[in-house]
Amino acid sequence: MAQEKVAVVGLGYVGIPLCALLADKGFDVVGIDIVRERSETVGAGRLPFKGEEPGLAELLAKAVKRGRLRTATSFEACRDRTAIFVCVDTPLDADKRPDNSKLEAAVRGIGKNMGKGALVVIESTVAPGTMTGIVARTLEQESGLELNKGFRLVHCPERVMPGRLLYNLRNYDRVIGGSDAVAVKRASAIYSRIMKGKLHPTDLVTAEIVKTAENAYRDVQIAFANEVALISEKLGADAFEVRRLVNTTPFRDMHMPGAGVGGHCLPKDPWLLVHGGRDAGPRLIPAARAVNDSMPFHVLDLVSEVLSEIDVRLEDAVVAVMGASFLQDTGDIRNSPSIPVIASLSAAKELRVHDPYLEEIEGVRTTPDVKKALSGADLAIFMVAHKDYSKLTPGQLKKLMRTPAVVDGRNLFSADKMTRAGVVYTGVGKRAILSCKAPAKAR
Ligand SMILES: NC(=O)c1ccc[n+]([C@@H]2O[C@H](COP(=O)([O-])OP(=O)(O)OC[C@H]3O[C@@H](n4cnc5c(N)ncnc54)[C@H](O)[C@@H]3O)[C@@H](O)[C@H]2O)c1
Repeated sequence: MAQEKVAVVGLGYVGIPLCALLADKGFDVVGIDIVRERSETVGAGRLPFKGEEPGLAELLAKAVKRGRLRTATSFEACRDRTAIFVCVDTPLDADKRPDNSKLEAAVRGIGKNMGKGALVVIESTVAPGTMTGIVARTLEQESGLELNKGFRLVHCPERVMPGRLLYNLRNYDRVIGGSDAVAVKRASAIYSRIMKGKLHPTDLVTAEIVKTAENAYRDVQIAFANEVALISEKLGADAFEVRRLVNTTPFRDMHMPGAGVGGHCLPKDPWLLVHGGRDAGPRLIPAARAVNDSMPFHVLDLVSEVLSEIDVRLEDAVVAVMGASFLQDTGDIRNSPSIPVIASLSAAKELRVHDPYLEEIEGVRTTPDVKKALSGADLAIFMVAHKDYSKLTPGQLKKLMRTPAVVDGRNLFSADKMTRAGVVYTGVGKRAILSCKAPAKAR
């Protein structure tokens, strides 16, 4: 078959690297996004988000400059395309059920415009049952074509993560679920041009279950680590030492506990699996979600304990929340555990938020300057492991801060070193407050 002419629908964290790599490997690519500003930014060769994404800005700019990637806002751009990739966001509604409105809108737009013989590849994560129940049906209705006769369908769920978009796309194995063998063969021919990982062929529903299960599995593992952290705190042990020792047993891989789980995928994909598998009555996955959702509120409990230890009321405290995004060194704020923490601390005398990759969160303007955020603060709450924090020493914290007290949500510091330096210190999975009983500097 002649080289496929490609469209990529949805120009976000998933769609942009896909466009850039396809164009780099010689495909003629049209990127489609309904948000005009986004379409224009990407069409001008610029990334619409901040964060450390090695190689991506350069690859995107090159693709546009060479004329291999252009963008549009209308699905009419699909008319001459032979392979159409869908990378739109697939969020949950308020009842934690899949909100497929964006996916359905995209698929309707494609169905109305695609030509006979088109291959449609859904990269977005979907609840099991969506590919045949919604996507295939909508494409058939809108196009008047029949699945596997007039068009073919593939689900190739994405495995990228912010901070490693290009690396994961190039190197990770992918699962390719097809409506038939021809669909898998055509999609594999395209993917094998842009990636080095293995391609694992399967059917549509298996691919849907694999993607949602791989993220639900991680979420459950993190919830387990968080539960052990809560138990360790109550019993006066350090959960990170517990974890180290647990993992000396063969076949154990206890995860890291922390201040919460965020991002577009991990808090959502377990619910997609629960929704698709609701007839089986899943119980473990919702329980894990509840544990992980509770962690930012546990951080707030630790904040209250520390404030009482240093004898400062929230209304009199200068509080610095260190990190707003959900993941270190990215500007991705979606479902960030910092959001409920910041929202609950609005009564502080002064609430500062440090983040080098975001300008605002919950109506609070951030500062990109670590020292400015900490200077004169009574309490620092470390929510994210941004690389700037690894350079901070207990001595510096002591010197910069007014009281000084720390709640560590990401195991960034050693409790011993903190207390030796005179910092009141606790954190997720840490022993109960380790106080140096340092007298507060004049308020
Ligand atoms: N972000 C990740 O790391 C990641 C990893 C693996 C899988 N995924 C999955 O990939 C999908 C996309 O995620 P993302 O992070 O790239 O989302 P995103 O929000 O960054 O990007 C989605 C883009 O789609 C556009 N869009 C929405 N509806 C549209 C429509 N009807 N037509 C055209 N464009 C439309 C939006 O304007 C946006 O620019 C989701 O299903 C997500 O679960 C994401």
